[in-house]
Amino acid sequence: TLTQHRGRGALICFEGLDRSGKSTQSKRLLEYLKQQGDVELWRFPDRETPTGTLITAYLENAESLDDRAVHLLYSANRWEKMQGMVKKLESGTTILLDRYAYSGAAYTAAKNIQGASLAWCQASDAGLPAPDRTIYLHMSPTAAASRSGYGKERYENIRFQEQVAQQYNALAQQEPASWSIVDADQDVDVLSTEIQHLAMTVLDDVKQGRALRHLR
Ligand code: TMP
Ligand code: MG
Repeated sequence: TLTQHRGRGALICFEGLDRSGKSTQSKRLLEYLKQQGDVELWRFPDRETPTGTLITAYLENAESLDDRAVHLLYSANRWEKMQGMVKKLESGTTILLDRYAYSGAAYTAAKNIQGASLAWCQASDAGLPAPDRTIYLHMSPTAAASRSGYGKERYENIRFQEQVAQQYNALAQQEPASWSIVDADQDVDVLSTEIQHLAMTVLDDVKQGRALRHLR
């Protein structure tokens, strides 16, 4: 029988250093994709949840926490939203992510803690829905640092961001087929257009029946 079935939504993730333009570009893509169907923008850390409150205090240096404890809080902050995310996707809504598990792995691995390898950092997110595409806003740490609003929170310093960039690079190499690296240090409108085209190819793949995978 021919049943009219609205397929699942796509999961598209934005990653990049602090101030690389993820929030701007994800909001622009949200507005663009609203013309195509149901779409939502989710951001991690989600600062509204109980774990999110702790994470914010930590980021503003109001709280000092063990590095592994913080890592697991960030991961828990994603797990809290997991069931809702899967339901949304299954109901046909596309979800854009402003940071996700790759931030979790890259930022903790960048700390170079004895025993917390990149693999250790990825383990707590294994099983979460995997993005159909991760759009990496590539920008040099120096260029990002010169943008306004930089330097107020923990992690926002060039030295640390250089380490984060190295870890992102390692993550991109693990899944070259699902990562798109774009130049974030170019005209904002040109970049938006590039990202719109990218996103449409992802929506097409998903429409063709591409299955939702899980992080490993
Ligand atoms: P934001 O600037 O996108 O709000 O994110 C706040 C900081 O948290 C940013 O420096 C990246 C960092 N971060 C982690 O360290 N681990 C994570 O899992 C996530 C999502 C963000
Ligand atoms: Mg930030």
